[in-house]
Amino acid sequence: MTGIRTLRIMIHDRYEPGDVAVIHPYAPSAEVESFLISMGYSNIADEPYEIRHNLPDQSLPDHLPSTITLRESRTGETRRVSLREGADELYEYCQRVRRTIREVMEEFRNCKIPKEYIFDVFPHLRPREFSIASSVIRHPRRVELCIAIVQYRTKLRIPRKGVATTYLASLQPGDKIPVGIKKGGLISLPKDVHVPIICIGPGTGIAPARSIIEQRVLQGSNENTLYQGCRSATKDQHYRSEFENLASQGHIVYRVACSRDSPEGVKRTYVQDLIAQDSERIWELVGQKNAWVFISGYVPHAGFLYSLLIFSPHKIIK
Ligand SMILES: Cc1cc2nc3c(=O)[nH]c(=O)nc-3n(C[C@H](O)[C@H](O)[C@H](O)COP(=O)(O)OP(=O)(O)OC[C@H]3O[C@@H](n4cnc5c(N)ncnc54)[C@H](O)[C@@H]3O)c2cc1C
Ligand SMILES: NC(=O)c1ccc[n+]([C@@H]2O[C@H](COP(=O)([O-])OP(=O)(O)OC[C@H]3O[C@@H](n4cnc5c(N)ncnc54)[C@H](OP(=O)(O)O)[C@@H]3O)[C@@H](O)[C@H]2O)c1
Repeated sequence: MTGIRTLRIMIHDRYEPGDVAVIHPYAPSAEVESFLISMGYSNIADEPYEIRHNLPDQSLPDHLPSTITLRESRTGETRRVSLREGADELYEYCQRVRRTIREVMEEFRNCKIPKEYIFDVFPHLRPREFSIASSVIRHPRRVELCIAIVQYRTKLRIPRKGVATTYLASLQPGDKIPVGIKKGGLISLPKDVHVPIICIGPGTGIAPARSIIEQRVLQGSNENTLYQGCRSATKDQHYRSEFENLASQGHIVYRVACSRDSPEGVKRTYVQDLIAQDSERIWELVGQKNAWVFISGYVPHAGFLYSLLIFSPHKIIK
């Protein structure tokens, strides 16, 4: 179940490069059941509750229905509690070791939460966003997503799985799920197909980059450069044959950094290393032809690249 999955979902909405698919996950029913038992809620788990705001002039958050049962509320989110006093202890006990509400409640068994406070204490599962990896022109009525399945061990060595990615990985072909499309808002493409673009996508950051590249090529542009970062050509070089075909037909310049394919003891190659190698061409594209640059990905990677390009251009562009 580990690794990266491609998910193809049939939809009716239109979308643009940069838009995201919004998916509401479900916690596994066995986990919900064991939580309800441990909290002593089994006998009231399927009773419908009406949820009302305490302040009459305020409405409920959009994701909360007005009537819900405890089981349907799918408790399972890790709560980030904030307190003014004891913040350090709270951080050590909860956040640093990523204890879930369920684990905290199991350690403090005598603490019982009256049902009136359930929705204050246990947050509803929040929806997750995934960048759309396809172009609606190429794939009408379909979105493709590139999803890294989250699985790790906490500092207490407890195995953890991501709520939404575990749910998505459990889906079978033909399953129906509600999906919303949220406007990315941050990406617009140059209207002129002769204005060059450079996409930089390490890891799952390749998703919006692929959507942009598909759209540009279908609009008739050959002024496209793609820097893809992956761990290994044989493991996570997503859409490889597709990009190689586009490169051989002259639609894109395709550069790939496979960080873990270098021999033992040799420094890893990242997208920024390729960009530094290509500094003259990058200068020509950005400095002389006003190329647009798109950076996407897991924040620690993409954020670093962003600061490198925006705040220290002399490091890359000589
Ligand atoms: C605009 C946007 C676009 C996105 N696009 C994509 C995309 O294209 N593909 C994609 O895969 N994801 C994407 N994401 C991330 C996605 O929304 C989810 O956050 C991600 O899939 C995890 O969801 P989950 O419910 O499986 O994990 P959760 O149950 O929410 O758990 C994730 C949390 O676990 C913790 N965690 C994870 N790994 C570790 C670790 N090794 N050590 C310690 N703690 C850890 C972190 O606190 C992390 O926040 C995007 C997010 C945004 C905001
Ligand atoms: N990619 C996978 O196969 C995979 C599978 C399951 C879960 N995940 C998890 O899902 C999350 C996101 O995964 P992802 O695929 O988007 O990213 P990722 O696999 O963590 O990283 C993608 C590529 O970016 C490189 N990178 C690391 N730091 C960078 C930096 N500062 N600047 C530029 N490139 C950098 C990585 O190099 P390194 O080789 O040095 O890491 C790797 O080559 C991570 O928590 C990851 O652990 C990933």
